[in-house]
This record gives sequence, C-alpha cells and structure tokens, in this order.
Amino acid sequence: MTYPTIGIERMVKTVRLLITGGAGFIGSNFVRYLLKSRPEVSIINLDALTYAGNLESLDDLPHDRHKFVRGDISQRDQVEACADGVDAIINLAAESHVDRSILDSSAFIRTNVVGTQVLLETMRRRKIARFLQVSTDEVYGSIETGKFTEMSPLYTNSPYAASKASADLLARSYHRTYGLDIVITRCSNNFGPYQFPEKLIPLMILNALEDARLPVYGDGLYVRDWIHVEDHCRALEMVLFRGSPGEIYNVGSNQEMTNREVIQRVLDILGKPASLIQNVTDRPGHDRRYALDSTKIRHDFGWTPLIPFDQGLENTVRWYLEHQAWTAHVRSGSYRHYYEQMYERRSQTLANL
Ligand code: NAD
Ligand code: DAU
Repeated sequence: MTYPTIGIERMVKTVRLLITGGAGFIGSNFVRYLLKSRPEVSIINLDALTYAGNLESLDDLPHDRHKFVRGDISQRDQVEACADGVDAIINLAAESHVDRSILDSSAFIRTNVVGTQVLLETMRRRKIARFLQVSTDEVYGSIETGKFTEMSPLYTNSPYAASKASADLLARSYHRTYGLDIVITRCSNNFGPYQFPEKLIPLMILNALEDARLPVYGDGLYVRDWIHVEDHCRALEMVLFRGSPGEIYNVGSNQEMTNREVIQRVLDILGKPASLIQNVTDRPGHDRRYALDSTKIRHDFGWTPLIPFDQGLENTVRWYLEHQAWTAHVRSGSYRHYYEQMYERRSQTLANL
C-alpha cells in the first residue's frame, strides 16, 4: 500500500477519518485532540451510545469538521453508510470493562470481535487507505517480572482481553492476507477526563468525594502502568500518520503502581481518610501485573509521555470536581443497577460464578 503517512502525503486536502467509539473515554479525548492538532482532518464519529458513550463528552466540539452518527459497528449497513470518501478508520469502539465481561461476554464478542471484522471488511471493499486498531496491553496477559514487547505471545485471561486479542489478530490477518495498510497499538491503563466511573480512578475519586467505601479487589497489590489519556492520544496520532503498515506499537508510560498506591494518592489529594478503603472479593482471573516495553514507538517517532502521574491525577480530580453534571448524568439509570450488582452484592455475585 502506498499510504504509510496519510497526513503528510495528503496535506493539501482534507483527511477524512471514520472514528468509532468517539463518544467514549479515549474516543472523545482523541476526537477533541485531533480537531485541535490537525486542521486538515474532518471526522465522522460513529458510536452506538451504549452506557459508556455520552454525547455530553462532545458538547464543546465544533460541528464543521466533526459529524456524529449513532450506529453499531457490528451492523454492516450502519458502517457502510459512514464509509463514503473515508481515508482511514480508527477503531476505538469496544466493550471495555473487564468486570462486565465476566458477568456476560456476549456484547464483547459482538462489538469487539464481530464489529472489528465488519470494519475490516468495509475497509477492504471500499479500498480505505489505512486502519488503526486500538488494542490493549491486556492481550499479553499478566507478567511477574520484565516487560512485554510487541513480539510477546498473546495469552489472555478475561473474556474482555480474549475479545480484544481476537480483534487484534483479525486486524493483523487482514494485513497479511489482503495486504491492507493496518497498524495496531497496544496501550496500558489510561486515566483522565471523561472516563466512565466504573474504572478504578474515577470510581475512587467519586466514591471518596461522597465518603463512600473504596472497594479494593483482593490484596490491592495488583500493578498497572498508568498513562494520561492525552499522552495516549499523541501516540495514536503518530501511529495513524506515521506508522508502518502491518506494525504493532506498544504504548506504555513506565508509571507502574499498585492499586493501593493509586487509591492512596487519590485520598491524599482529596484529604480523605484511608479508613474508606475496603477489601472486597477479588476479580476472577485477575491479572497481577501489566508492563510494556515501548522502545519501538519511542525510537521510531520520538514519542514519550509528557504528563507525570501526580500532575495528571491532580488535574483529573479537579476535572471531576468541576464536571459534576456530566458525572451525575452518566451515573444515572442502568449504571446504578450495574453498581449495585457489582459491589453491593459483590460477594454473592462473584462467589456464584
Ligand atoms: P469506553 O468504554 O469508554 O468507550 C467505548 C465507546 O464505544 C463508547 O462510546 C460506546 O458507546 C462505544 N461502543 C460500544 N459498542 C459499540 C458498537 N457496537 N458500535 C459502536 N460504538 C460502540 O472505552 P475506552 O476506555 O475509551 O476504550 C476505547 C478503546 O481503547 C477500546 O478499544 C479499549 O479496548 C482500548 N483501550 C482502552 C484502555 C483504557 O485504559 N481505557 C487502554 C488500552 C486500550
Ligand atoms: O490495561 C489496559 C486496560 O485497562 C484496558 O484495556 C481496559 O479497557 C481498561 O478497563 C483497563 O483494564 P483494568 O481491568 O486494568 O482497569 P480497571 O480500572 O477495571 O481496574 C484497574 C485495577 O484496579 C485492576 O487491578 C482491578 C482494580 N480494581 C478495579 C475496580 C473498578 C479494584 O481494585 N477495585 C475496583 O472497584
């Protein structure tokens, strides 16, 4: 394929991107980031608006270069309707929460596996120049010491991770089989504004603000490598515009911490007591540690994370304090039911699995 650098080669005209999942956490941040950093870009944002997708996350964006379409990536006709004149697809649409995949993996297979296949087929039929599959470090499974490189085997432990690994491998297969220009990123744990409060950091911020208990799974010594979502967005931009066809890029920030350390920092910022922390039943199949070797993206593009964890966390806490209407809306309705099922009755729910 001849478009290893779609932005640079086509700088003279608008680059038309189909971004899926653009009303979610990383998607809305990425759309906002690109509209600012790339004046040549126009975006079709295709999102099903599941519980995790929220139009209020896009409220401040201009309408001239950003069009939102409600639709499901697993439905071929709905994807086709957005494909005219598209130069690249960036697939961020997913069911993304491990705990939900343990309760029921059906939607994960439908969206993460079938949805990705539908998008890849659309690329193939419509001769779309480039495809960026946004994958995750969870496809490698857990690692006690050392770090995963792009050559490490995929060894998944949750239905979520298995569905993402399937999508990741499907994307690779479309490059190998059909010669399509596909790039893949595998990033570590993101945090920042607009993250749905079922994930560790926003959940802890919001619970601590209400003096509610902070549920720590198991011994709380599970390790994640935290990256600010804006640093992830910069990496996605670099891979989208400069990545080599068929290549995979790890994106990690070398900011490893146990869950207990993360929660303690949230408590410190808010001035809340550690007595709010409560150990609860562990997550089945819980990955002990994720750690990525990101030498390749650092070397190839000079990418490096710019936002230190403590600074990013303070800004994130401030963002949640200043956006309480957003929070109240996304936590209403079906989220309340989920929270009750997951935490209020957590012992029974997980013991019965
Ligand atoms: P999210 O759950 O916040 O957002 C997902 C978005 O996808 C939502 O807006 C939702 O409405 C949409 N969606 C779900 N099913 C859809 C469907 N069938 N059709 C169209 N849209 C649909 O997720 P996120 O945290 O923003 O993650 C985005 C992507 O990045 C995912 O692929 C995830 O696996 C990957 N990722 C996330 C992290 C992280 O730490 N959050 C890290 C690495 C990779
Ligand atoms: O590593 C990348 C992945 O990071 C992404 O692919 C996923 O989409 C994203 O959800 C995230 O997965 P995790 O399972 O690591 O994130 P989560 O926020 O659910 O949990 C982070 C850690 O905190 C994990 O060890 C479980 C623990 N945890 C989580 C919650 C929600 C708790 O101890 N208590 C909680 O209430």
